[in-house]
This record gives sequence, C-alpha cells and structure tokens, in this order.
Amino acid sequence: MTCHALLENNVDDIVITGDITHRGRVSEYQKFQQIFAPLLEAKKICIVPGNHDRLGDDVAGMVMSGARVAVQSRPGLHLVQVDSTGPQNYSFVAGHGEIDEEIVERVGDALESAPRDALRVTLIHHHPLPLPEETLVEWFVHRMGWPYAEQLGLGRRLLERAVGECDLLLHGHRHIPREIRFSDSERPLLIYNAGSSTELMRFRLFRHAEGRLLGSPSWVDVRRIPAEHALEPVWALARRRPTVPAAIRAPAALDEVG
Ligand SMILES: [Fe+2]
Repeated sequence: MTCHALLENNVDDIVITGDITHRGRVSEYQKFQQIFAPLLEAKKICIVPGNHDRLGDDVAGMVMSGARVAVQSRPGLHLVQVDSTGPQNYSFVAGHGEIDEEIVERVGDALESAPRDALRVTLIHHHPLPLPEETLVEWFVHRMGWPYAEQLGLGRRLLERAVGECDLLLHGHRHIPREIRFSDSERPLLIYNAGSSTELMRFRLFRHAEGRLLGSPSWVDVRRIPAEHALEPVWALARRRPTVPAAIRAPAALDEVG
C-alpha cells in the first residue's frame, strides 16, 4: 500500500532512513525490493541502513553498497547518505549507532559539493541529538548506563559541520516523530525524526523548489499497510512544477527501533 500511495501521489523522490528489515534477513530485503520494485526501477528511492539491517544476514551492504558516506544527485536534490551502523548492531540489544571524525568531514565535504540550486538533505538512521526516552525499556537501559537508545556520540559535531550547508537532516530509529530547528542561519538546518510509520500509519511529505523547502512538510495518512510491508522510515520529496499547484508528498515514517 505504501508503494501504491507513493505512485498515486506522484512523488519525485523517496528516502528511507534505515531498518528496511526487522531481522536483517536477505529474504526480508528481497521482499522489500519486490514491493517497491516500480519505485526502485524508476530510481526514485534512496536508502541508508539501520541497526536492524545488521542483524541476521547483515544486509547493510545491499542497502548502501558498503560505503559509509555516499551522494545521490537528483534534479534539484542533493542527497548525502550516511551509514551510522556498526558491528555492535550485530546484537539486538546494542542498537545504537556510531560515526567518527572522518565520516563527519566526509559528510561536510559531500554537502559542500552540492549544486547551488539543489536542496541539500542528509540521511542517517540514528539520531544526532538526545531525545526523550520513549519506552520503559529505554528508561531502564539508560539508567543502567547502556547506550541502547543513546544519540550518536559525534551527533552534535556532525550537525555543527553541516550548518550552513544542509537544509534537512532526516533520521529514523526512534518511534515518535520530532522536529528540531538546529540553526537559524541563512540556510537553516532542520532535523526531522520519521517516527514509526507502522504505529503512525502516515508519513511526511516535503515540497521544494530551487534548492529551498516550500513551507513545512505535510503528513500523509497511509491506511491498510500490511504490517510486513511497513517497517521502514520513509520520506518523500517532491519538486514543485510550474504547471502543478503546490503538491508535495513526503512519506514519513515506518520505523522500528532496536
Ligand atoms: Fe533502528
């Protein structure tokens, strides 16, 4: 249903911020590929891996070809993909992410290479800033000193490097959608957490033109998503066309933290 909703809404680009699979199985990823085949074949989807994708068969390499930082350029859109997963994610109870200084610099360089008229978006699974605990489990493990639900250790460094060069940082991992305005520079940096689409049954839709966002994103409800199809945090971006009244579609979030 998600795929159909995206096709019906004629979105230009869809980004998925990790946890494509629940158990990291190749069969799960192949199912995703089957379901989203029309959009994948049209090269409309951009993905980064999440901690769940490192479980089981470890399909992170299928998601992002093994690179920690990569760029996808689309008309009017500059997407910087960041793999924030690590070997700790082989364990279900160690879902936290990790990035290092080299990755921070590579992300900064990738953002600086964007065309002037492109919206600059960073995609990453784990959250860069502290977020409130969402469950009793998170509350408990936090007090035990375990990093299970912690933000990225260099998350703030990443944001400081991106300020002035990045318009949107989209992440997943946590279940409750959130919005943070990190900077008010000439090029404000906005952070959005997709939230859990399986719980929310909706996604965000961003509109952009000439390298800038057009207002705030809107929520799009997606009903009747089969549970096995709805694990991933999804967003969609649409370019404004001169002949089309401002319609944007951004699917927001189907995530499962772990
Ligand atoms: Fe996650």
